[in-house]
Parts: sequence; structure tokens; C-alpha cells
Amino acid sequence: MLKGVLEILQPYEAGKTIEEISERYNINNIVKLGSNENPYSPPKSVVEEIAKASNFVNRYPDPSYTKLKKKLSEYTGLSVENISLGSGAGEILDSVCKIALNPLDKVVIPVPTYTMYAFLSMLRDASLQFVETLDFEVRAGEVIDSAKDAKLIFLCSPNNPTGRVIERKELIKIIEGTDALVAVDEAYYEFCGETIADKVKEYENLIVVRSMSKFFGLAGLRVGYALSNKKIIEALEKARLPFNISSIAESAAIAALEEMSWFEKIKEEILEERKFVMHEINKLGLNALPSEANFLLVRLPSIDMQKFIEGLYREGVIVRNVTGVQGLKGNYLRITMGKKEENRKLISALRKLMTL
Ligand SMILES: Cc1ncc(COP(=O)(O)O)c(C=O)c1O
Repeated sequence: MLKGVLEILQPYEAGKTIEEISERYNINNIVKLGSNENPYSPPKSVVEEIAKASNFVNRYPDPSYTKLKKKLSEYTGLSVENISLGSGAGEILDSVCKIALNPLDKVVIPVPTYTMYAFLSMLRDASLQFVETLDFEVRAGEVIDSAKDAKLIFLCSPNNPTGRVIERKELIKIIEGTDALVAVDEAYYEFCGETIADKVKEYENLIVVRSMSKFFGLAGLRVGYALSNKKIIEALEKARLPFNISSIAESAAIAALEEMSWFEKIKEEILEERKFVMHEINKLGLNALPSEANFLLVRLPSIDMQKFIEGLYREGVIVRNVTGVQGLKGNYLRITMGKKEENRKLISALRKLMTL
């Protein structure tokens, strides 16, 4: 009755919530550094717009989301016809699979990367080809060689969980060297400022995926968008469900895009903190790898990871154990940059566990 692939797919494991850890260990004052969120609540103007919009939830949203698309058009420098919206970047990634994949089509995924690409492709009964990266560097030649007869290539820049940016010239080589659709996930774009979105009109096969969950701190409201040529955007618009974004989310996203200097200031603090946290982690004898995003990938020695993570939970610190993610060999944690005091709590918890 159900699709066979559901028998082998493991459910996506999201980061632990504060409530879960609080209840399990009977503790308070928990810091959540496991889901690459923005640690700050939105600015007042965004909260006010959310409250205002809640008065009108008896009405459906504007079916074409013209206001938000216009705002994103100003933000990205692209036209409204090059933009499609989704309920988070997650929905856009699913829609990309929906418009591109038939059963048994080949999808190429350099690893390690965001595990949802494989998950969503499998749900479309695609066949997966992972490309192992040396030193986490995505090289065009290897991707193009693996992509013969492929329908779709997923790339992530900056990459989750490595924090690495894919060099622009490598991206262009891949896009030009394949007939497959190339989806470049730029969920963390604002933390590094490097993008390939300026090229979407030039290529037939490029789609850029963005999120408002990270830099713009709207993870709970679910807003993402795709940037691509007119033909691909029309396909996405055709395939999406009507009213896929709530009117509250649309209003909040518009308000957030009017607060650029506020979010830029937070970004600067996060980048400063990333420097500090990386330095402190390395001082503890662990290995935090250079990152262009709001998180750090940390290599740990061969210890009992389950015990280590439990130890951090007990100290009231939630991080993500990414050990075992395809393409990662060895023990690794992914740690989101929090507020100053949260990061200091993380460091003292790590110090305590390292000296046990
Ligand atoms: C690389 C990447 N893409 C997409 C997403 C999903 O983002 P959204 O909250 O916009 O669905 C995430 C979330 O962690 C991510 O890390």
C-alpha cells in the first residue's frame, strides 16, 4: 500500500529541543546550539507585524505573494519572475525533487552535506550517487565525472555541516559541465556573502535555494525561496501547493527585510563569537574547523560520543552530534554560535568534560 522506500528511510532527526532536555535531565537554563538558529528574537518591528497580521488570519494569503516577492526582488537584485517562495528552504528542496525527478533518476550529492538532499531524493525513488570529498573541498571535475546521465546535483555553500564555501569557479565549472539541474543551497549565504544567484538568468540549469531561518531568524515561521530562470520558477510555482506560506510568515519576512542593519549587526557579533569559540575550542585540544557559516564543525578524538553528548546535555548544552553522517569519518560535533553568554557556557561545559 505504501511506497517501498519508506521501509528503509529513517525519519529525519532534528536537533533536540530545550523542553526535551529539560524534562529528561530535570534541569533549566539550557542553551540550544544544535539547530543553526539565530540566537536572538526578531526585532520589535517584526514582532509587531506578526501581531498585526494575526488579526487577518480569517483570510487566505495573497496567492502570488507579490509583496514579499517584490521585497525579495529588491534584496536579491533579481526580478519577481525569478523568485518562488517555499515554507522554508526545506519545502523548496522538496519541490526541486518534485519538478526534476522521476523514479530511478540519478542524483549526485557531494558529501558530507545536509542529509535532507538524500532523504528527499529517496522519497522520489531516485538513485543516489555520493561523491566523497577530500578535505571537504568540492571539486568540479569529480562532480562532473559522477554526474554523467544525472538529473539533479545538490550543492551546499556554505556547506552544512562543514562550513565550507564552494569556490565560485568550481560552481561555474559544474553548472557548465553538466546537463543536470544544479541546486545550490545557500541557506547560510548571509554569513559569508558569497553567492551564485547573480548567474541564475544566464544558465538553464541553475537554481539557488535560500532560507530566512538563519540570518533573518524566522526558523519558527518557515520562509524560504528559490532563485532561478523564468522557466524553472514557473515550474516551481505550478508544482507548489496554493498558500504554502502563511500570511503571518509573509508579513514577518517583509518586516525582517526592512531591518537589514539590525540583522547585519547580529551577524557581526556571531562572526566575532565564531572566532572566539573556535580559539577556545582549539585551546582545549579539540579541532574546530574554519567555517563561513554560523556554526563550527568540531573534530573530537576517539571517545564514547554518546557519553560525551549526554555529558553536554547534563551541563545544559545542546549541540548536534554529526558523527556517522555520510562522508564524515571520525567523531564530530556541529555547534551553532549562540549569544556571548551561551557560548561561554558551552566552553566551560566542554572544558569540564575534557578534564573528566
Ligand atoms: C543547508 C540547509 N538547507 C536547508 C535547511 C532548511 O532550512 P529551512 O528552515 O529554511 O527549511 C537547513 C536547515 O538547517 C540547512 O542547514
